[in-house]
Amino acid sequence: MPYTVGIQAASLALLSAGLPAIFCMSIVMLLMIVSIMSSLQKDGVDTPAHLPTYSLFAVSPFFRRRFDFLNWGFQVTGHPIFQFSLLRDTVIVVSGDTGRQAFFSAKGFDLTEGFKMLSGAIPMVRGVTSDLQTKRIALIHKRLASVQKNERLNSLIPIIVEDSRRCMESWGPSGSFDPFEKVYELVFQVTVRTLSCSEISDDVALVSRLKKLYDTLDAGTTPATVLLPWLPTPSMLRKLWATKDIYDIVVAAIKSREESGISRDDTLQMLLDSGDDKLVVVGFIMGLLIAGARATGTTTCWLLTFLGSHPDWRAKAKSEVESLLSSQSSSTASATLSGRLSTIPLEAWEAETPVLDAIIKETLRVAQPHTAMRKNLGPETYIDGKLIPSGAYVVYPFSDVHLNPDLYPDPWRFDPGRSFQKETGYGYVGWGGGKTTCLGQRLAKVEMKVIAAMALMGFNHWVVDRDGKPADSPPTPNWNDILLCRPPQGSFSLRYERSGPAL
Ligand code: HEM
Repeated sequence: MPYTVGIQAASLALLSAGLPAIFCMSIVMLLMIVSIMSSLQKDGVDTPAHLPTYSLFAVSPFFRRRFDFLNWGFQVTGHPIFQFSLLRDTVIVVSGDTGRQAFFSAKGFDLTEGFKMLSGAIPMVRGVTSDLQTKRIALIHKRLASVQKNERLNSLIPIIVEDSRRCMESWGPSGSFDPFEKVYELVFQVTVRTLSCSEISDDVALVSRLKKLYDTLDAGTTPATVLLPWLPTPSMLRKLWATKDIYDIVVAAIKSREESGISRDDTLQMLLDSGDDKLVVVGFIMGLLIAGARATGTTTCWLLTFLGSHPDWRAKAKSEVESLLSSQSSSTASATLSGRLSTIPLEAWEAETPVLDAIIKETLRVAQPHTAMRKNLGPETYIDGKLIPSGAYVVYPFSDVHLNPDLYPDPWRFDPGRSFQKETGYGYVGWGGGKTTCLGQRLAKVEMKVIAAMALMGFNHWVVDRDGKPADSPPTPNWNDILLCRPPQGSFSLRYERSGPAL
């Protein structure tokens, strides 16, 4: 077993040794030297403008308030491309039409390397997450494509419906909740179901534990854990333990499946039957759960929030689902909503839901706080006449295009009826662009549509303010929260009442 799982013991040893102040002092000295050295570098005319600071503390908002930080960077440098230093690394932020087009089409820009360094959500554990070389990643992507082949994806629909029914049943006849807790929980359950195995997804307590562990990874991502991943800070140790616990849960499920000798109809079985090495199977489940649950979770929370604050679009979406039910599922007096939704075939979900498609598209435009990250693996290249050296990190904030009032007038307004940019290159990048587009898009869309359909037909819902009164205006997405785009906690909730047929 390449992963010796000695992390917990090693972490404890490090903690108890106390790693004396001298060690921390030397780190501080090192940071100071690196900062001073960077500030002495000479700039050419083709060098992107620098932020007027070399202090690591001044750039820490890149991790904590990214939207404000990047806007400040454009403003203070007065340039559409600027750079800043993260210790010895250069990060170049690009924007504008040409910047965006170059970013999405540059051959040498690598997503995995960029994400690894700048995101830092999953600690790089030797033998597990750090050794997922290109070949293994390609294999994981191939398996993800298999999960989304027509027949397989079609067979997932009743399973997604059933998980949604169970979760929504637990909401009771009426109440109110924070969508970023309850809806996110539902999406997490469904994602675990579709991407892993019954050993995990049938065990409600285990799914809840797994969610907490992934939350620990997110919450523990600090500037220090990203920049100095080898420094045994408490957050880093918590992240390592969480990663190890997730790893143990996944490995135990695989072992239990193998030892049972029983073949089941789920994604784990498909992976095992493909004969891939263990690292691919574990990497698939650990990595895609985090990629899938976060993006789909955030989008579904916002989708239901926008529907709860735009009764006109709620009515249109509901009427679309009603037509789908009447044309695609048989209705008997005893049929439950979930029973009927499960019989709607994949093609209908994909081809006969233009309103839901438009709502998803607009939700992604206005509430997906993504910043695309790449490393230039070479050769050096130019964007807008500015040099992007080999080895530099390059980032592109989606706010540059999706909240641009020239492309999307009144950009913060949720309006699925608006016209989307087709003429401008990569004028809409909700699912990525160029050589990097989302590989889980088909699955994510079906999940979101099924959940939305169930919520629309099973409940009335609307947005209320912190006093429980119907909100005057829709909540505004907070792009500084890079995971959920979540406004201040408690500032609004979703109020709901059961309606319609039995779930
Ligand atoms: C609403 C849900 C989702 C949204 C909005 C979304 C969006 C995106 C975007 C914008 C990218 C490109 C990122 C970039 O250029 O930096 C991307 C890439 C990716 N997504 Fe998704 N995603 C979603 C769900 C999923 C799910 C459910 C999975 C897997 C099960 C998934 C797997 C991936 C993978 C593997 C890539 C990387 C592709 C590559 O390396 O070429 N996504 N996604």
